Amino acid sequence: MGKVVVVTSGKGGVGKTTSTAALGAALAQRNEKVVVVDFDVGLRNLDLVMGAERRVVYDLVNVIQGDAKLPQALIRDKRLETLFLLPASQTRDKDNLTAEGVERVIAELKKYFDWIICDSPAGIERGATLAMRHADMAVVVTNPEVSSVRDSDRIIGLLDSKTLKAERGERIEKHLLLTRYDANRAQRGDMLKVEDVLEILSIPLLGIIPESMDVLRASNIGAPVTLADARSIPAQAYFDAARRLAGESLPITIPGEKRSFLDKIFARRAA
Ligand SMILES: Nc1ncnc2c1ncn2[C@@H]1O[C@H](COP(=O)(O)OP(=O)(O)OP(=O)(O)O)[C@@H](O)[C@H]1O
Ligand SMILES: [Mg+2]
Repeated sequence: MGKVVVVTSGKGGVGKTTSTAALGAALAQRNEKVVVVDFDVGLRNLDLVMGAERRVVYDLVNVIQGDAKLPQALIRDKRLETLFLLPASQTRDKDNLTAEGVERVIAELKKYFDWIICDSPAGIERGATLAMRHADMAVVVTNPEVSSVRDSDRIIGLLDSKTLKAERGERIEKHLLLTRYDANRAQRGDMLKVEDVLEILSIPLLGIIPESMDVLRASNIGAPVTLADARSIPAQAYFDAARRLAGESLPITIPGEKRSFLDKIFARRAA
């Protein structure tokens, strides 16, 4: 049975869709069977970042409403055999997503895929709670700034109360993905430091993705950064994050700083 991961944040524009595509591709590049699911009904964005927008015929809402079977809506990635996209509808509104419909689709996807990665819409309303409902694990995407951290804290509250796992009294695994991190700005005090974010949110760190033109370039050519430029620093950070998501333990490094995050913490403690 596949693992269901929700990529969520509360605040908009922090890098959920970018991270869904990059983590999904990184896992598929390790030969895992992956489907990325766009829950952002009405806005629809993941297909663009994946470079599949011209191939969308049927979408999640069509499958939920019975207009199409799941295999008709799944789009196989042009570059990776094991990577698929289930797109969102651009024309309908989010009320077309029903709780029962989502449950049925997720249950079917779990039979065929190792990973079902759900790209959540921004906010804390119905679309976001539906996207997280069936998750086994959550990736909480956060930028190093106060408003993003505050919204992530609210999302953590929802993950611990509104998901099926929470209702069953089980723990949902939560991971922090710090994105758009700029070491120079953090050093100048224009951004929160990694330690500050961790102290406030207090969930394990999945990785730190730097603010980088490589991410924008990848998005412009319709490819996850791990495929567009696998050697780039953000791609390497996403590869490491994907390995941690799959259960490996790797030291965390802060992009733009030479020392590992642990060295830094220990140096601080020793001082
Ligand atoms: N590491 C990064 N470096 C530079 N730009 C980035 C990075 N991550 C994301 N971006 C850019 O930030 C913008 C928002 O990213 P994205 O669409 O992934 O966010 P989102 O959280 O999905 O937004 P929404 O809440 O609207 O769905 C995009 O233009 C994207 O290319
Ligand atoms: Mg998005």
